[in-house]
Amino acid sequence: MKRKLLGLVLSVAMVATMLTGCGGASSTSSSANAGKVGVAMPTKDLQRWNQDGSNMEAQLKEAGYEVDLQYASNDIATQVSQIENMINSGCKLLVIASIDGDSLGTVLEQAKEKDIPVIAYDRLIMNSDAVSYYATFDNYMVGTKQGEYIKEKLDLDNAAGPFNIEITTGDPGDNNARYFYGGAMDVLRPYIESGKLVVKSGQIDFETVATANWSTETAQARMDAIISANYADGTKLDACLCSNDSTALGVENSLEANYTGEWPIITGQDCDIANVKNMIAGKQSMSIFKDTRTLASKVVEMVDAIMKGGEAPVNDTETYDNGTGVIPSYLCEPVFADTSNYKELLIDSGYYKESDLQ
Ligand code: BGC
Repeated sequence: MKRKLLGLVLSVAMVATMLTGCGGASSTSSSANAGKVGVAMPTKDLQRWNQDGSNMEAQLKEAGYEVDLQYASNDIATQVSQIENMINSGCKLLVIASIDGDSLGTVLEQAKEKDIPVIAYDRLIMNSDAVSYYATFDNYMVGTKQGEYIKEKLDLDNAAGPFNIEITTGDPGDNNARYFYGGAMDVLRPYIESGKLVVKSGQIDFETVATANWSTETAQARMDAIISANYADGTKLDACLCSNDSTALGVENSLEANYTGEWPIITGQDCDIANVKNMIAGKQSMSIFKDTRTLASKVVEMVDAIMKGGEAPVNDTETYDNGTGVIPSYLCEPVFADTSNYKELLIDSGYYKESDLQ
């Protein structure tokens, strides 16, 4: 019912757009006439968001939309004002990768008043009933794949152990971080409880192992302290569960500076260039590959369906409750990459050029 109404409103909005053009003060340039779409990304600091933004922009333009693409330097107030501008400058739909999932409720009230649909991109926007859809990679599966990788490489079901592991996850304001952590810990926790895996630092709880802003430097500083307190005497560290590549990089930098033992298994996520290089050099064991082209094209499909007055394609209507109810979601499938398959996944697919990784 709600969706039908949305469709009707959007059809009317489409006609209005065709008659009046997009209007607004945005600096976007395009001869497109299918309507203007606002795309709000968290930061340019991390490689993946640059790829997400440019893939989305290119594909939306290709589909005939005008695009207002903004990055917010990981600053919540900046993101809020960018979204406000998008709403006031004639955007007909918003695609938002939030910095902090809980901080957009108020600004999105304005979107709701203007019947502007919102697609939460990659990260769920919490406690706002203005969110129409969610598109992401299966975040829980990202975590289970990281946990399974460690489980298999250490052969936890057969090897005697015990093995030492340290855990680093992401920003507590990013709803995804809890899924990554939860998925990995669902695999690893039984081994921690049985004593086969030992967390020498004792730092296990989500809040304790979280990394504000997914910062490489913060992860590195925390790891420096963990190594000096627990592994400086030559004690072997067998594995580091890191939820993504920026935190993995911090852990790797710290190990390089402070740790003399055999290099541990280290997980990551995003296949950032620096981390793939580290993978090739033997300093990171794996990363989760989330092909941003796939997510972008799915979101463009969703945008197009909504803008044409229809319903967006979804494949999950159970998992992601943002506090106002379950948000219909499309979950893309993540895959793991390591030295055995990165060429096929990353180079043969055209995601990177061989020279990018040298
Ligand atoms: C994304 C990850 C990314 C992290 C840090 C998460 O929400 O899903 O791919 O590594 O944010 O930007």
